[in-house]
Formats: sequence, C-alpha cells, structure tokens
Amino acid sequence: MTKPSPLRLTRPDDWHVHLRDGIVLKDVVPHTAAQFARAIVMPNLKPPVVTATMAAAYRERILAAVPAAMNFEPLMTLYLTDNTSPDEIRRAVDSGFVHGVKLYPAGATTNSDAGVTDIQRCMRTLEVMQDTGLPLLIHGEVTEHSIDIFDREAVFIDRILQPLRKSLPALRVVFEHITTKDAAEYVRDAEGDIAATITAHHLMYNRNAIFQGGIRPHYYCLPVLKREPHRLALVEAAISGNPRFFLGTDSAPHPKGLKEHACGCAGCYTALHAMELYAEVFEANNALDKLEGFASFFGADFYRLPRNTDVVTLQKSEWIIPDELTLGDTTLVPLDAGRSLRWKFIPHG
Ligand code: NCD
Ligand code: ZN
Repeated sequence: MTKPSPLRLTRPDDWHVHLRDGIVLKDVVPHTAAQFARAIVMPNLKPPVVTATMAAAYRERILAAVPAAMNFEPLMTLYLTDNTSPDEIRRAVDSGFVHGVKLYPAGATTNSDAGVTDIQRCMRTLEVMQDTGLPLLIHGEVTEHSIDIFDREAVFIDRILQPLRKSLPALRVVFEHITTKDAAEYVRDAEGDIAATITAHHLMYNRNAIFQGGIRPHYYCLPVLKREPHRLALVEAAISGNPRFFLGTDSAPHPKGLKEHACGCAGCYTALHAMELYAEVFEANNALDKLEGFASFFGADFYRLPRNTDVVTLQKSEWIIPDELTLGDTTLVPLDAGRSLRWKFIPHG
C-alpha cells in the first residue's frame, strides 16, 4: 500500500486564543506556538488587560514563555469597558502590537464582569476605532437571563450588532467564535468589513456532546454548542473559501477540578491538537484543499498583516490525545482526551 501523501500548507495563525497568565504560561504558550506563527490573545485576565501599557507587559510575559526553538508572535488585544477612553484607543493603535479591542457584554462569559454594560456608553471610543481601522472583536451573546441560552447569539445580532453597525458602518468587526446558522448567514451577507472566527469544537460537535450518557463538562464552552443544523452551517461557512471565515480556536485552559465541578467553567482546550482537529473536519467534508485559506490566509488578510511564508506539514499518522496536561501546579483535560487522531502536525515543511 502506498503511504498517503502529507498535506503541506503555509504556517497557520490562531485568531482567538486564551493563554491566561502567571505560572501556566509556560505550559500553555508552547502548544499554541508549536502550531501557529501568531495568535490574537484574549484580554480576559483578572484584572483584564485594559490599557496598551498592560498589553505591553502581558506581551513580554508571553514572549518569555515561548521556547527558544520556536517563533511566535502574540497579537495583543484590549478589553473594552464602559470607561475605555478614545485616547487609549489611539495609544493602542500607536503601539503597533495591539490588533483589536474585545467587547464582552458584562457577564457573558469567563472573567467578563468588567465588560460593557451598555454599548451606547462606548460610542465615542468606537468612533475612534472606526476612524483608525482597529477591529472590534465581539463576543456576540446577550446576557439577559430571560433569554434562552441557545438563543443568545441570534438575539445579539438583532438587538446589538445590527444597530451598532448601522451607527458605525465602517467599524471593522470580527464576530468571534460563531455558533449558529444565523451568525454564519449574517456574516456571509452583511455589508462592510466583517469577518468571523470558527472554533474546531463548534465544527465537530453539536449540543448532544454535552449530554452523551451523562454530563460532559469538557464539552461545555461559551457560546454553548448548538443544534446539528447550526453545526452544519458552520462547516459550510468554514469550507466555503469565503475569506470572511477564518480559524480561531478559542482554546481556553481551565484546571480539571474547575471543569469537573458543580458549577464548571466554560471552555475547551484545543491548543495542543488544533490543526489535527480542523484537518479532520475538512477531510470529512472533502475540503482539505480549503484548509489553507481558512487557517493561514484569510485571518492575516483581514487583520492587514502579511501572510506567513514558512510551511508546515500535516501527516497521516495516528496518535492518542493525552488524558491530562500540566497546567501550573494542577492539570487540564484537553478536548477529546484519550481519542485517537488521524493527523499529526509537523511544524516544518
Ligand atoms: C473562554 C474562557 O475560558 O476565557 N471560555 C469559553 O468558553 N470560550 C471565554 C470566552 O471566549 O467566552
Ligand atoms: Zn474566547
């Protein structure tokens, strides 16, 4: 039998990742840096990264955790609050290393308590982002408890996103980790400069995964997995070749004990095996030829950064996802722990 030929592609980037801070950086950063040349680093630390000065210091701590043999550039973001000033946006743009500002509706997800309570309070700041071209990265869910958790993304589009984009039509927007057909269609059809990131787990699983034979906390993330027709719409968007859709893992490390808990944290850890997971999805949909655009080109183009030039390989070879990985003085459980993968990422061409 002939060996299946490996897939070679331009080195990819991750346009949405959580690296956390402190002692866990040395455990988490090498996973992302092994696969991706660059990553948009989320600012939802405690306290959140709200100034360019804080982003500069956080960037240094991340760089100190990159193994000597690896090349990795963290692309920093600021956390938008009700009080983020227009001047802070100008400082962020001038820094050269801040590439977006993240909107978390207050209370929407992990460490979002300091988020925006009312978008109207941010209009002057958002105007400066529109003028300077700095993208707004949106966690697109309303937070009202009266609205069903499975509807919060679709309601966000109607109540917040459309009015916002009407007021600021030239604001550059990334609709982060989309999970619904509604969001995929909105981004596909909307006017203006808008794109969306899609995670591996939302391409692989529907909401049944959270309840397969019992409650499965490692499949709980936000926005929560949705019904199968939504997953199918995300797959269609990802493999469409439309440059508005690109890779963002939303890999989010949490200690095992806080996931397997009476009130478990939201987040799936995929940094270790992200490209293998995406390759499985694209292969299952006969679209491996579309993976490079999604993983390596469209994000860079949207963020107005040069495409990477080095090459990586995905080899057809089986390996088992570890049951646990070190996370500081504890451990985390990666997505699909214990399962066999069909592809292996090799960081050179
Ligand atoms: C993220 C985290 O843990 O920081 N969790 C998640 O479920 N995705 C926050 C986020 O991106 O919503
Ligand atoms: Zn996230």
